[in-house]
Amino acid sequence: MINHVTIEEKVQETPTVFSMYFRWEMKVMPGQFVMVWVPGFSEVPMSLSSTGERKCLTVKVYGETTARLAALNTGDRIYLRGPYGKPFTPTEGKKLLIGGGSGMASMRPLIDDRATGIIASRNADELLFADHFKEGQAICVTEDGSRGMKGLAPDALDKLNLKEFDAIYVCGPERMMYAIFQKLKGKDLNVEFSLERSMKCGIGLCDSCSIDGFQVCRDGPTFHIKALEGSMEFGKTKLLSSGKRVYF
Ligand code: FES
Repeated sequence: MINHVTIEEKVQETPTVFSMYFRWEMKVMPGQFVMVWVPGFSEVPMSLSSTGERKCLTVKVYGETTARLAALNTGDRIYLRGPYGKPFTPTEGKKLLIGGGSGMASMRPLIDDRATGIIASRNADELLFADHFKEGQAICVTEDGSRGMKGLAPDALDKLNLKEFDAIYVCGPERMMYAIFQKLKGKDLNVEFSLERSMKCGIGLCDSCSIDGFQVCRDGPTFHIKALEGSMEFGKTKLLSSGKRVYF
């Protein structure tokens, strides 16, 4: 069923990322996604960046639908169906959130006093939600060195004792996630990755989101690190919405 919601507030988070707040009574768990539609444009999958009574979508423009969303203002409607997919497994313990680019958006609902963040971006202006962490618990990593460590998200892992964390959550560009996977696999850590694939139905019918025989919309989008060991596709290849296979 498609629901419509009205944008209550729009916030520019970084030069290329904005958030839209709205009321929606549906129960959504962190890590689940919704299919977002605006008339005249294709649906796109997005995880919510706030899952309370007041919900939020945090959007980076990367195609026609997201460009249309960027042009909307408070009072305008957007259309949603869902929520779909498997949420992040919650923990009461210490957690590490690793977000690259706009990846921290889907993990923002997990940020609390027990959360440490590795927030990575090209430059200081594009760091997303770094200031939502408790003071001293955000490690910023920028490619140009304009804030925090100079480098990439996986470089920051060496600064931490990862065994301290009850859960590690990762979301961002797949090349970043795959580099983190390579560093953490086989280490008996509790790690979950949020994967992105082309989605059409969102409910396990069309197979556009398949990865190694799994369907990201139904079996994911969150996957435990053990489920990705032996994957022939994670970090290597994906299908575009046209059906063409491309390599990362
Ligand atoms: S989006 Fe159709 S099967 Fe996943």
